[in-house]
Amino acid sequence: MFNKRKTMIDITKSDILAALKKIDEPNFNKDVLILNTIKKYELSDHKLNLFLSLPILEREIPTQLKTKFEEQLKKEYPALKEVSLKVEGRTEHSASEVNNSVLPGVKNTIAIASGKGGVGKSTVAVNLAVALAKDGAEVGLIDADIYGPSIPLMMGISGKPKVFQDANSMKMIPLESYGIKIMSIGLLVDDSSPIIWRGPMASGAVKQFMSDVEWGNLDYLIFDLPPGTGDIQLTLVQTIPLSSAVIVTTPQEVSLIDARKALKMFNRVNVPVAGIVENMSYFIAPDTKKHYDIFGSGGGSKLASELGVPFLGGIPIDPRIRMGGDNGVPIIFDMPNDEHAKIIMELSRSLDKNVKEIRGKNSSKVEIILDDN
Ligand SMILES: Nc1ncnc2c1ncn2[C@@H]1O[C@H](COP(=O)(O)OP(=O)(O)OP(=O)(O)O)[C@@H](O)[C@H]1O
Ligand SMILES: [Mg+2]
Repeated sequence: MFNKRKTMIDITKSDILAALKKIDEPNFNKDVLILNTIKKYELSDHKLNLFLSLPILEREIPTQLKTKFEEQLKKEYPALKEVSLKVEGRTEHSASEVNNSVLPGVKNTIAIASGKGGVGKSTVAVNLAVALAKDGAEVGLIDADIYGPSIPLMMGISGKPKVFQDANSMKMIPLESYGIKIMSIGLLVDDSSPIIWRGPMASGAVKQFMSDVEWGNLDYLIFDLPPGTGDIQLTLVQTIPLSSAVIVTTPQEVSLIDARKALKMFNRVNVPVAGIVENMSYFIAPDTKKHYDIFGSGGGSKLASELGVPFLGGIPIDPRIRMGGDNGVPIIFDMPNDEHAKIIMELSRSLDKNVKEIRGKNSSKVEIILDDN
């Protein structure tokens, strides 16, 4: 066994990543090298044993990559006498069929993401969740935005989840609202106490929301992601066994730029995008019913065709949608006959159809590796 106290050279995981990123290999995107890709790390005095699980397809790993990594590590740390390295990619079918030990009863997992903050991810996540449930699906919702959880407010819930214990395990029972099972960090910690999370804690918390919560059988488990496409989001989308993703954008260019980045992030981890939603698409004047393109028009659908992913539709901007969020009564539940609710209902049906098509295409079983970081 390796004994840390005997270690003569001190190399951290971050040092290793920095060294690996120095290799010269044009066919390899070095951005995929993050802490979470190191699945095994053993360092003895002169020996390094490393296992990297990359979020790219096995066939996309350049043939010389392993050798280049090993050479680079030896060059960087001459004291290393032996480097044993294993590099693995993903199988062809990725995580498209969610059939793994982490979420055994869940058929589909969908991330709701955006590059930019404040574009309406959480609003779209709660309304889509309720819309899918209205059509008869069993739906769960995980607030993966542990930095700014808004699901409890938007779903009108508070209180701590109950804990259920049997001989083998202890599980939390998700709270329920509008027929949706919900878990959020906002239910576990007091909102007045500031939470200072470091990156790995975010994925750790979401990991626990998957493994330590009694989800039962679900057709859909929806994840409301934090905004952005940085390390934290990339780690999250690698941690969650995702069958697909929905990207939310607003019509203007500043938001579209970031939506492109979000799409690239999902491509990188091989998660198919089931569609783009253009939120705050236009405003319908309540008296004349005329449409006003407040933030420009057509950006979302143009982006979808440019990137070759489906366009799910546009959701108008309307004060009642905002009030629904603030009051904890999603418009889709409160005013089912309102035209905005009908638009969201149609959108959820397109999503359901696309997700089923994706499932049909990717029907092989895949094991998701979770590390203990
Ligand atoms: N279509 C809409 N019409 C009116 N208001 C909306 C609409 N969509 C979202 N909002 C409002 O915009 C604000 C931001 O929305 P939301 O919190 O859903 O965005 P987000 O992308 O989840 O933000 P964050 O990046 O902070 O997580 C909220 O007050 C919400 O009620
Ligand atoms: Mg949000």
